[in-house]
Amino acid sequence: MATPTTTPSAPPTGRVADKVCVVTGAGSGIGRAIAHRLAEEGGKVLCADLSENTARETAAEITAAGGVAEGRAVDVSSSAEVDAMVEAAVARWGRVDVLVNNAGVNLPGLLHEVPDDIIDKTLDVNVKGQLYGCRAVIPHMLTAGGGSIVNISSVNGLVSEPFLTVYSASKGASVMLTKGVALDYVKQGIRCNVICPGWVDTPINHAHAKLLGGLEHVYDTIDSFQPIGRPGQPREIANVALFLASDEASFMTGSVVAVDGGMTSQ
Ligand SMILES: NC(=O)c1ccc[n+]([C@@H]2O[C@H](COP(=O)([O-])OP(=O)(O)OC[C@H]3O[C@@H](n4cnc5c(N)ncnc54)[C@H](O)[C@@H]3O)[C@@H](O)[C@H]2O)c1
Repeated sequence: MATPTTTPSAPPTGRVADKVCVVTGAGSGIGRAIAHRLAEEGGKVLCADLSENTARETAAEITAAGGVAEGRAVDVSSSAEVDAMVEAAVARWGRVDVLVNNAGVNLPGLLHEVPDDIIDKTLDVNVKGQLYGCRAVIPHMLTAGGGSIVNISSVNGLVSEPFLTVYSASKGASVMLTKGVALDYVKQGIRCNVICPGWVDTPINHAHAKLLGGLEHVYDTIDSFQPIGRPGQPREIANVALFLASDEASFMTGSVVAVDGGMTSQ
């Protein structure tokens, strides 16, 4: 199936109007698309990324399009920086209604060859980063009487693939930390859901693609693992994140939502 050049979206109707949204990893790929989608639907978006430049670029694009956004640096593997990111959103806009824990790394390899620092970095960013994010926003959401947390895991939180043992371990943890938060705060109006994307066309996959024989080869043979027959586009993940962030998903918490072109149906 050919990759669509545009991803259809209904005209904006303010689905997250005036909600204060924090998106990590907002400087690239899926996070950038999520920040745009939330802003298009009326959210005030704090775009945070390890790269301050790209975070500010996303915020500038949103502002240029008439939305409300600010960009700032964060290293989600630092609890102090994650706390400061959330405090900055509260200082600017008074509360946090939505957190999208999207920042992530994929550092592939065969486990017996993976050094300690790669294991540490993967778990620090992909697991601790999401725990720190949830922990930082929950007190504010409790005060406000609720909120929505959307974690970005992966199909590799459900099934693994060659060279992805460490990444898969981290993404499995993302699924389970989502369920834990969902259960502990369901009575206080905090919803927490997790998206498991399939192969989406972003730079995070490039190192993995190299180990699989190159990106061109992966895309030529994508039918063999992603039945829809093409990579996903970041906005196709962002549409689902927007829904989970919004009040339209009011009966959903602890849900594991595969957005994967059929990959995990096999
Ligand atoms: N692209 C895919 O096929 C795919 C599939 C499943 C899941 N995911 C997940 O989606 C999320 C977004 O990935 P993407 O595909 O947009 O990749 P990407 O590489 O385009 O974007 C990742 C962003 O995270 C940022 N980041 C990395 N480490 C950080 C840190 N310590 N603190 C703050 N920001 C940091 C990067 O600077 C980058 O802007 C990740 O969690 C990834 O695991 C991606």
